[in-house]
Amino acid sequence: MKKLVILISGRGSNMESIACACAAEQWPAHIASVIANRPDCEGLERAAGLNLPVSVVDDREHATRADFDFALAQAIDACSPDLVVLAGFMRVLGAPFVRRYAGRLLNIHPSLLPAFPGLRTHSRALAAGVRVHGATAHFVVDEVDAGPIVAQAAVPVLDDDTEEALAERVLEAEHRLYPLVVRWWVDDRLRLAGSRVELLDRRPDETRLLWDPS
Ligand code: GRF
Repeated sequence: MKKLVILISGRGSNMESIACACAAEQWPAHIASVIANRPDCEGLERAAGLNLPVSVVDDREHATRADFDFALAQAIDACSPDLVVLAGFMRVLGAPFVRRYAGRLLNIHPSLLPAFPGLRTHSRALAAGVRVHGATAHFVVDEVDAGPIVAQAAVPVLDDDTEEALAERVLEAEHRLYPLVVRWWVDDRLRLAGSRVELLDRRPDETRLLWDPS
């Protein structure tokens, strides 16, 4: 049974999609803890509603990034997880933290990386006039939104799109993509070899691109 820790900062919908897939598909895994860096975030209520153990490491109670990262690592290591999943976790993590969990630290980013790293990805995609947008699941390295790409989900950008409509379409794609990728890891099919992503025992219907042609 693999142990997962999920880190959140806000709404927690990706955390919920992973937790629900884990339960519904009876993964050989369980969510050991959902940890938030804000005590008032919506995702904590969602996690409690799913009967998941929750805790908070409040970044405002730590003077430096290093102090916060250390406290966060202590809370994570108390659960001795196999995998740490960043799911809308809005803090940049320092190099020592990233090194500590190398190869077992995943993130989801709401763009087709390397396009649009950072914030406000949907409005930047609209402003740039791209016709395809989406989400990327990647291993975390010591550079923001730059780790080895595991898989992507692509959605069309429609002529009359608003930022909200596009964000909603991408979020739905995230909810398909992230549980799939975490499950690959749980099933020992996904690993990071140096900087190369390996997906083992690929099945004919599996691709590392989820494409929404609508
Ligand atoms: C998602 O769009 C994720 O890609 C980004 O932050 C958002 C978090 O949403 N990193 P939620 O908290 O999972 O609902």
